Order: sequence, then C-alpha cells, then structure tokens
Amino acid sequence: MRVGVLTGGGDCPGLNAVIRAVVRKGVKDHGFEFVGYRDGWRGPLEGLTMPLGVEQCRGILPRGGTILGSSRTNPFSLDNGVERIKDNLAAAGVDALVAIGGEDTLGVATKLADLGVSVVGVPKTIDNDLSGTDFTFGFDTAVNIATEAIDRLHTTAESHHRVLVVEVMGRHAGWIALHAGIAGGASAVLIPEQPFDIEKVCAFVETRFESTYAPIIVVSEGAVPIEGGDMTLVSGEKDAFGHVRLGGIGDRLASEIEHRTGKEARAVVLGHVQRGGTPTAFDRWLATRFGLQAAAAVAEGDFGTMMALRGTRIERVPLAEGTAELKLVSPEEYADAQVFFG
Ligand code: F6P
Repeated sequence: MRVGVLTGGGDCPGLNAVIRAVVRKGVKDHGFEFVGYRDGWRGPLEGLTMPLGVEQCRGILPRGGTILGSSRTNPFSLDNGVERIKDNLAAAGVDALVAIGGEDTLGVATKLADLGVSVVGVPKTIDNDLSGTDFTFGFDTAVNIATEAIDRLHTTAESHHRVLVVEVMGRHAGWIALHAGIAGGASAVLIPEQPFDIEKVCAFVETRFESTYAPIIVVSEGAVPIEGGDMTLVSGEKDAFGHVRLGGIGDRLASEIEHRTGKEARAVVLGHVQRGGTPTAFDRWLATRFGLQAAAAVAEGDFGTMMALRGTRIERVPLAEGTAELKLVSPEEYADAQVFFG
C-alpha cells in the first residue's frame, strides 16, 4: 500500500514525531511505502511530493516544525479542488492519506472522506480546542513556553513596579492563557470565552500593587472587552478558511490600564515563539502514540476516523465528530481560575 502524509494549518511542536511514528510503524509492521505531500492540502492539490521513508525520519523526533511544510490551503475554496486532489492521488498511486492538522485541515479531510477519499486524521493544535480529543500535542509545549515567560516577567515587573501584559495565542479558546496563567501565578487571565470588564482588570492591578508583587495580566489574542469593539484585530486580512488575523489586544490593554491606573504598563506578545522549537516529552509521547494508531487505522482500512486521546487511551473517533465543535473553557473552569485574580 502507498500512503501519503501531509501536515496542514499552523505548525505545532510534535508534528515530526507523528510523521516518524506513522512511517516507522507503517514500514516495519505493514510494509507500506510513503509519499510526503508538501505544504498541507497544497501538496495533493498541485502534486507536490517529497520522498518519505525511515531515512528521512531519522533525527526528527525532537525537531519543531514539520519536515513536510505546511499551509492553510483550502481545496474547497478553489475551482475543481477535489477533482485535482483525486486525480493527483491516482497519478501517484497513493491509496490512502494521513492528514495531520487542526479544525480546518481535518475539516477538509472530513469532507474528502465523505467523497470517497481514504483518509485518516491526526489532531494537532497548540490551542487544544478540538472537542474529539482530551489533548492535542503542541499544547503542552506552548503552555510551558508561556509559563517560563511569565516566570521571567515577574522579576522584571517587580523591579520596575510595572504592569506586564502577556499576550498568548488562542483564537477562540483560552486554554493556553488559562493553563499558563494559573501555572505562572498571573493577576488575571482574560480569555475569548468570557468578555472582560476593563474596570475589574484595573482593580486587580491595584490590588496586586498593594503587595510587593507587580501584576502580570495574561490575555488570549482572541479576548474581547465586554463593551465589544475591535481591540483585537491587527488587520482585516483573512485566510483561506475565513479566519481574521488576530493580535494587538496586549498593546491595547496595556495602554488602557496605564491610562486608567496611572501605573506604567507594557505588553509582551509571545506570538510564534509558542509554536517553535522542540516539543516537550509529553508532546513527543502523545504525537508518537497518535502516529502509531494512525498507521494501524490505515492498515485496518478504518478510514474517516481521527485519532483521539481519551483519558490515557488512544482511540479512534469519526472525523466528523472530532471536528464538529470547538472545545472551549467552561464557566466553571474559569471560575476556579478567578480565585487567584487580583
Ligand atoms: O491555530 C493555531 C494558531 O497558533 C492560533 O493560536 C493562532 O491564532 C493562529 O494559529 C496564528 O496563525 P498564523 O501563524 O497563520 O498567523
């Protein structure tokens, strides 16, 4: 059997660990041959391939990014996109695809599976917002990077009696902000799921200054104030899946806090640092287990499925179920975090 592998959407630490596990198990246990598709769905769409075998996977386990490249190409937004993919797969003699991606990449995989393409999905996103799985790899790495940044920012904020606002990734879900904010002892954590009240945020800032500590406010890039407005948008630019490019809330928040409290406030945007570099041991472990399970699913012809972590077990769920809705921070989980605000 000839199997194509692709990685789509925002890159994420652990992608190479999945590729390595799929290939190692596929070759060793099932005698598969592999084709690497370049840059997400652009690969099968334009027939962009690269050699992929055990040799190409040597040494990639701890490497961030993806050896296959990535893009946010959406074949369903292009003329004859699906036909072109089917034709290119047939021309390359590819019998099955392993698609590693988030909501958008796996959304495409779901539709292609319905149209008869033999595809299995592996969930990835640093945002950890896919409902079908307890965790996605990449999230643990991002949380650790953000926590280390918060730890470092505490000491400099205290030395200068400043407010530091830390903007982290999280388009729709505040998981990175919540986990890193709690782990790093933030004075407040602001997430997309719960519009924030700027007056309350300023009150938390004042309370923290009553001690010898200085306030650290952790904010998701997708957080919005209760009065609404456009505090988050860097530009109106949209990607092929219709997502607006976010960023900017940190600076806006810092200047609003400075204006209202009279305390100096600065913003630190962690941005793509959270997605780069070597994955944590947990992410390597999770990515490897997903990859092993994906190879097994292909061997069994269990197409249209997505690998999922449920408790400590790796299970397969229908792709449609895995991508049906976003997993968001619940009001209860946010209430627990609020105990530490101020
Ligand atoms: O989906 C993962 C993610 O890192 C989001 O947290 C963020 O909004 C988005 O990707 C940024 O994407 P890009 O790197 O394409 O601007």
